[in-house]
This record gives sequence, structure tokens and C-alpha cells, in this order.
Amino acid sequence: MNFHQFIDLIANHNVTDEQIENELCENHFYLTDIQEDLADDVDEIILIETKRRKCSVIHAKSGTQGFPCVQTGTKKVLYILQGKIQYSEYVCDAFTLTNTKKEIASVGEVIIVNPGVIHKVAAYDAKAIVLTVSLSNVDYDDTRIFNHSFKIFEDNSKLPDYYYGYDERYQKVYAEGADLWETDQPNEPLIQFVERYLVEGKRVIDLGCGEGRDSVYLVSQGYDVYGVDVSRAALEKARMRARQLNLNCKFIERDVVYLRNIKNESFDAAINMGCLHMMPDPVHRKQHLERVFQILKPGGYFLVAHCRGEWLKGFFSVPNYEEAGPAVPGRIINRRIRVKGGTKMIPLPLVPFKESSEEELKRELAASGFKVVDSLSENTDAFGNTAVLLAQKP
Ligand SMILES: C[S@@+](CC[C@H](N)C(=O)[O-])C[C@H]1O[C@@H](n2cnc3c(N)ncnc32)[C@H](O)[C@@H]1O
Repeated sequence: MNFHQFIDLIANHNVTDEQIENELCENHFYLTDIQEDLADDVDEIILIETKRRKCSVIHAKSGTQGFPCVQTGTKKVLYILQGKIQYSEYVCDAFTLTNTKKEIASVGEVIIVNPGVIHKVAAYDAKAIVLTVSLSNVDYDDTRIFNHSFKIFEDNSKLPDYYYGYDERYQKVYAEGADLWETDQPNEPLIQFVERYLVEGKRVIDLGCGEGRDSVYLVSQGYDVYGVDVSRAALEKARMRARQLNLNCKFIERDVVYLRNIKNESFDAAINMGCLHMMPDPVHRKQHLERVFQILKPGGYFLVAHCRGEWLKGFFSVPNYEEAGPAVPGRIINRRIRVKGGTKMIPLPLVPFKESSEEELKRELAASGFKVVDSLSENTDAFGNTAVLLAQKP
């Protein structure tokens, strides 16, 4: 769906609020789709306003400006069009405002603000542009709930930004002439999983799908697939490949830590092929595993491929492991990338990672409620010394 079709939906009152919310969650919109020019000194442009709904584009103020607002009688959906936002929620008593939730959301992500929620939307970096849709309006203005004399207990320290490091690396390898960073073939253990465990027609989510090699394979085998990643560049490749192969696969830009706006118990299987090991923060790992558990149906499978140790050893992109030097995040090392007619060494920074033994990974999965049912561990070209575990939601 393009942006103009979306605006038509908003105008059409036969279309339910829930349908609009779903379209926002499952589509990708671009700032360039919106013809109105949002100059830097303009806070908001209203794109459409009806009796029940309002859709506008806003500049999110920087983190230190602005105050929390209470969402009045309507539900508001925020779709990030450019930059990143820090979204915070609060509870308030007579004298204090306590921060209860703080998340970073990036381009393509959707945040839903329910009526009555005290919240603040701030630009995480210099600038962020957000599409806001207020549904079932009775009064769509935010109401400020306190004045400047209140003290805001907010920790403004920057949250980790490294998940988005991948996007820059994808962009760099494409700019250097690579068609893809990875091979276009699916991960080998996934094929084994599908052949042994997965009944045709099931709904699968590919977490950290990158350029979509596994998602596309799963669709070709008759599954209903959603690929999720934070990298817009990789997702564009994935969408292009699905189009070329005439395969219907949804690719959504979203952080797999929170898996925002994905319904609980809505998938038969989830796969995480080399994405969990890109999350070193134990809090984020736990949050991710718990969300995966929630979105799976009872009996649903979770296939995880995770580096066991000696990061970079056995990676296709690191042919000379002995000479690569220490795997320290931020260090630039030459990576072997496939380009037309062969391969090319491209200097790229290492992003943070986490190694886990199979036992450690089993414990982590069990702590989130999963039962480990099989081990498909093997060395793969992509991730080197990899533990591949199959877990199940009881
Ligand atoms: C090693 S690649 C694997 C890609 C793909 N699964 C494959 O096998 O080709 C890891 C992927 O995880 C994505 N990623 C890392 N952190 C993420 C996060 N918090 N949310 C969503 N995707 C993330 C990266 O953008 C990258 O595409």
C-alpha cells in the first residue's frame, strides 16, 4: 500500500480503526511519499483531518525539550519516518513523575499510545520526523499535565545505538559493488528444521532477517512469512528479491528486542539466524526471548543460530582468521564480500556481539520458558562456530 492509499483509508469511515492500525504496523512508508515539505521551523503539518481521525507529520523535539503529555480520549499511533525517537512513559502522583518505560524506536517502527497514557516523544539524535495518526477522535489535542515547575525525573543518558550499526555496513558493501552481503542461499540448519518439523502453510517470523534469504526460502516452501530487521537497506534488498521471485513475503522494519505491535500467540514458528548474538546486552536478550515466547502459539518452535566462541572464525567474510587480529567492536577489519565476478575485501567496523556456549544458550532459553528439543549445531559459512538450537513453547 502506498501512502496515498493509506490517506484514503483514513478518510473512509467504513474502514475500522483496527484496520488502520494494522496497515501502519505492516506497511512501510517513506518520508519522500509525503509531498508536503516539513521545513525545519515547522512543528506539524496536518495531512488529513476528519471528524474521527487526524493524520499529521511532526518534528519530534530534541530529548531535553518538551514535557510529557497525557494522551486524551483517543488512541494515537506513531510511525517513525526519519531518525530515531526516544519514547517514554510515566506515572504521576501529586508531586512526582516517575519514568516507567523508555525505548528507542527507529524508522519504520510503530508505537501505539493508548488513551490516558502519560508519555513523551523526543528526537533521539538531532532530528526525527514522525507520522502521527489519532483514531476515533473526540478531542485530539494532547493536554499538558503539568507546568515547568515540576521536576522531571528522567535519565537522559543515551541508550545503546549499536543495533543500527548493521545498516551502515550493508549500505557500505552495496556502495562498494556487492549485490548482497550474504549468499542468497538459505541457512543450512533451517532446511533441516523445515524438513523435520514444520508443517506446510504455517506462519513463521524471521527475526533479524537481513536480506531475507531465509524468509524467501520459507515462502517458496509454502509458509506464510514475516521478515523483521532494523536495517532498511537490507530490507529493501529482501523486498526486491521477493518481488523478483514473485513471492509474497512481508518485510517489516522493527527492533526484535521489543517486537512492537506484533500480536501475542500469532506465529507457529520463529527463527533467529545470527541476530541474537548481535545483542550483547543481557536485558535486551531477555526482553527479546520473552517477546518471542509471547508471540508464539503454544507448541510453537523457535530456531536459534548463535555463535559459540572465537567470533569471526569460520565466517565466509573472514578467510584469514589468524591474521584478522582481536575481535574488538569498533575495530575496522577487511571482510570478504561477494561482488560481480568474484569477491572483494571491504574494510568494515566490527559491531558488538555475544558468544554463548550451547549450555549457556539452553539456560537462557529455559529461563524464558522454552524447552530445548533438538540441536542442529554445525559450522556454517555465515556465522562460523555456531550453536543451532531448536526450542519449543510448551
Ligand atoms: C548476521 S545478520 C543475519 C541476517 C540473516 N538472518 C541471515 O542469516 O542472512 C544479523 C541481522 O540482525 C539484524 N539486527 C541486529 N540487531 C537487531 C535488532 N535489535 N532488531 C532487528 N534486527 C537486528 C541486523 O540488521 C542484521 O541484518
